[in-house]
Amino acid sequence: MFVSNEVSNEVSNEVSTTFWHPFADMSAVNGHELVVASGVGARVRTKDGREFIDASAALWFNSVGHGRKELADAAAAQMMTLAAYSNFGDQATESTLRLSDRLSALSPQEDCKVFFTSGGSDAVDTAVKMVRRYWWLNGQPDRTWIITRNRAYHGMHMAGTALAGIAANRDGHGNLDSRVRNIQWDSAAELAAVIDELGAERVGAFFCEPVIGAGGVYAPPPGYLDEVRKICRDRGVLFVADEVITGYGRVGSILASTRWALDPDLILTAKGLTSGYLPMGAVLVAGRIAEPFWNSPGVMWRHGYTYSGHATAAAVAMANLDVLERERLIERVVELQPLLAQLLQPLNQHDVVHEVRAGVGLLGAVQVKPEVIAADPTFGPRIIGQLRERGVLTRMLADGSVQVSPPFVIEERDLASIASAIDESLAALGSTRRARPMLDVNLLPDQTSDESGGFGSSDDRLLADVPPHHGG
Ligand SMILES: Cc1ncc(COP(=O)(O)O)c(C=O)c1O
Repeated sequence: MFVSNEVSNEVSNEVSTTFWHPFADMSAVNGHELVVASGVGARVRTKDGREFIDASAALWFNSVGHGRKELADAAAAQMMTLAAYSNFGDQATESTLRLSDRLSALSPQEDCKVFFTSGGSDAVDTAVKMVRRYWWLNGQPDRTWIITRNRAYHGMHMAGTALAGIAANRDGHGNLDSRVRNIQWDSAAELAAVIDELGAERVGAFFCEPVIGAGGVYAPPPGYLDEVRKICRDRGVLFVADEVITGYGRVGSILASTRWALDPDLILTAKGLTSGYLPMGAVLVAGRIAEPFWNSPGVMWRHGYTYSGHATAAAVAMANLDVLERERLIERVVELQPLLAQLLQPLNQHDVVHEVRAGVGLLGAVQVKPEVIAADPTFGPRIIGQLRERGVLTRMLADGSVQVSPPFVIEERDLASIASAIDESLAALGSTRRARPMLDVNLLPDQTSDESGGFGSSDDRLLADVPPHHGG
């Protein structure tokens, strides 16, 4: 049973830990771990028996819900046959070949080829190297500059860190790549200007999350994606869609690239590919980009990972895609998209709330005013604590937003519980609400069309430094 009123904010593991948590202030975490032990559907349970609605799908990845036997069975069957083998050189495992064909068929790219990785950061790293190598093979070795956007998150390998649009994620590591330029996230004009300033003949690619995720859930402004796609095409710059979050249904279509007809040169995917049951990523490569790699006799691209195309991960990905299709879970996202927007939008009435963004797929953010967080850096973590007391598990994003991105199988009443828990948590922290009644869905405008671009607005707010979560 869901015990939202009985939960406490006590930690599940009070002993000192040897586990170095990712994206964590270990001085605070040590002895205060929240140990998540099991999960079913859109709910998880901690070691000490408390139940939570998983409002973030863990780290955006759990699309099909927790506790899917079918995925475990697929893993077991593959492991009993052949857990994994090397896919280097001419060797291949069967499930990998099947998954590759399936991803190639679902990609909007013509003659799509698939390069497998171990996760999203590997996919970003692979893409940066692939872009530069592509131009090198094409006799334009100077096309090495990569353009990215502020607010962007492209994983935490060296390449992704260099590309990061969340400045705090780059700090303190030196200059990891001197050929990266970061532009305003919503300005197509700046993209054109920067390419022209650097010289198109020196620019390799533009990396773009169709919907910015970890930076705070920012949908593209109306027309933005069309414009940047055209700018890249006109100048011969490759367009890389980082769909590590948006891929496999989260925005209500199989890929954001399909929803917005982007025809990217490369599409980076991970997370939802396996719903996180096993780690895996895939770079979907347009045939025109693969061509010089595939048709250079005697030339090997010396790139790949031990687990590229891991047979068991591939079998799990196949089972995950089966579930998505059979249970029509992407249609479910389309159904829930307006409801999520309607439920979250009234939270705008809180005086501490800067903006509510939702309306594109099962993605939402409730952003606290930067000045509130600047005045009290504990405000974000305290919201998360309040939410936990109300049986909702999620985190703060880089710009001071509460992340809302549940599994696709979440029930309507759990979505409503997330919204009311955020409402109550803000109130418990002293936020007052303006006149309009909270959570009155009938009063809300329809924010569901692509034209509205969700209801994020563009502005040049500084990214607030909100510990502890700035990660993917
Ligand atoms: C857009 C984007 N790209 C890349 C990554 C990195 O993926 P991973 O953490 O699997 O390495 C993430 C992770 O959140 C992401 O959101």
